[in-house]
Amino acid sequence: MTTFTLNGSEVSLDLDPDMPLLWALRDEMKLTGTKFGCGVAQCGACTVMMDGMPRRACVTPMSMVEGAEITTIEGMEGPVVAAVQSAWAAIDVPQCGWCQSGQVMSATALLEMIPNPTDSDIDNAMAGNVCRCATYVRIRQAIHDAAATLEG
Ligand code: FES
Ligand code: FES
Repeated sequence: MTTFTLNGSEVSLDLDPDMPLLWALRDEMKLTGTKFGCGVAQCGACTVMMDGMPRRACVTPMSMVEGAEITTIEGMEGPVVAAVQSAWAAIDVPQCGWCQSGQVMSATALLEMIPNPTDSDIDNAMAGNVCRCATYVRIRQAIHDAAATLEG
């Protein structure tokens, strides 16, 4: 049994301790906003917050989740993610959309740590989030726009 906090509520799941968190989220909890891409921590599609930091759910076994606070895209709230999502929508960042919840998670984590990031801060923070539609230029612009909104 693994007990942890998921999007603000305590949950207990009786799953194989080796099962990746991504499987538990998508197949058991039906939280399909977190996507499967590579399965080997190379693409960032499965990014969730674990204790406030971005984490690849595809390589996080349930045995590591005991007692943790997990937030998926469905549970993200607050001014930073709201600014990110508004900026994303304003300049139409998503194309096919598959990578986008992971992108939003990483962008939000970046802006929570660095409120006014440089291009190089953005490139470093977002390097692990791959987009096969190549929306990188718009992602970078949207992060700058969100930072400007948050600065007021
Ligand atoms: S599916 Fe987890 S990093 Fe690609
Ligand atoms: S929007 Fe299609 S993979 Fe990024």
